[in-house]
Amino acid sequence: MMVVSTMTSPDTVLDFAHAVALGLSDRPRWLPSRFLYDERGSELFEQICELPEYYLTRAEAAILRRVAPVLRRKTGPVTLVELGSGSSVKTDLLLAAYAEEGASVRYVPVDVSASILRTAAERIEETFPSVNVSGLHGEFEQALPLLEDYGPVMLLFLGSSIGNFNQAESLAFWRRVAAALPRGGWVLLGVDLAKPAAVLEAAYNDAAGVTAAFTRNLFARMNRELGAGLDLAAIGHEARWNPEWQRIEIGARFHRRQTLHVEPLGRRFTIEPGELVMTEISRKYSLPNLTEYLRCFGLATAHTATDDQRRFAVLLLQKGE
Ligand SMILES: C[S@@+](CC[C@H](N)C(=O)[O-])C[C@H]1O[C@@H](n2cnc3c(N)ncnc32)[C@H](O)[C@@H]1O
Repeated sequence: MMVVSTMTSPDTVLDFAHAVALGLSDRPRWLPSRFLYDERGSELFEQICELPEYYLTRAEAAILRRVAPVLRRKTGPVTLVELGSGSSVKTDLLLAAYAEEGASVRYVPVDVSASILRTAAERIEETFPSVNVSGLHGEFEQALPLLEDYGPVMLLFLGSSIGNFNQAESLAFWRRVAAALPRGGWVLLGVDLAKPAAVLEAAYNDAAGVTAAFTRNLFARMNRELGAGLDLAAIGHEARWNPEWQRIEIGARFHRRQTLHVEPLGRRFTIEPGELVMTEISRKYSLPNLTEYLRCFGLATAHTATDDQRRFAVLLLQKGE
């Protein structure tokens, strides 16, 4: 039977208020990207995955389709724990291989977005009767201490989600993963590779304006949950390649002065015309640098696969015995 459990107090309105106040007090101003994913944000992200400019999802799916049986042979039977699982649509490709010939498989999707987690868990239960789904609603780091309960495990971190961490967040994340993963445990990581700026900027500035709606939805959420009182028409979307940091920087450019209220804390912030509030980064990688970096956390690369145009890569990592 499908179970979705909530780990302790994820994303309460007060967490949101504190995170917004912290990021807006900094310069340049920023907001943590996990708050992009309320119910509407998750729906918009699914639409982004279908956009012609957003090659990432299709490239990663093509790789997973090809390598799923290889991964199954290498890892043997494992519990699949997926961080930031979203709709889990690509995960079907793995579940099909791991549940072959009716083998029973445990799948633990973890996501801050309760609505998409529930929909995904229900869909998977219907599609794969031999897969036992236990969804966890909450943040990545809340799920990591639970890994030791799952026996042999493969942690899935797909969709280029690792690219949303800055250097300090990435360091903290991999330290936590290395500490929580049992020896011999596996990680399957999906990463976007560095490529010409024009291709990257097009992927995050789609012609249909869905990514812009995704950015603006964060401010609509602030209006609703924090009483921010913003005129959404004053907020534009921008995505630019930063070659020095090898990352796409996505943000909201304010066209007019706005006073943003954070009612639960009784605080307000004035944002001037022309100011940018960064809402998300997406780092892009070179495979040699990334595999060296991951080795520093005791994670050896056991298999690497890219799509035929080498836009995206999926890495199977194993924690040293
Ligand atoms: C870039 S999307 C990727 C979704 C899916 N894995 C894919 O490949 O299409 C990131 C997902 O992670 C979730 N998420 C973001 N930050 C999170 C956090 N700190 N803890 C748990 N889930 C998070 C979002 O709700 C979203 O579903």
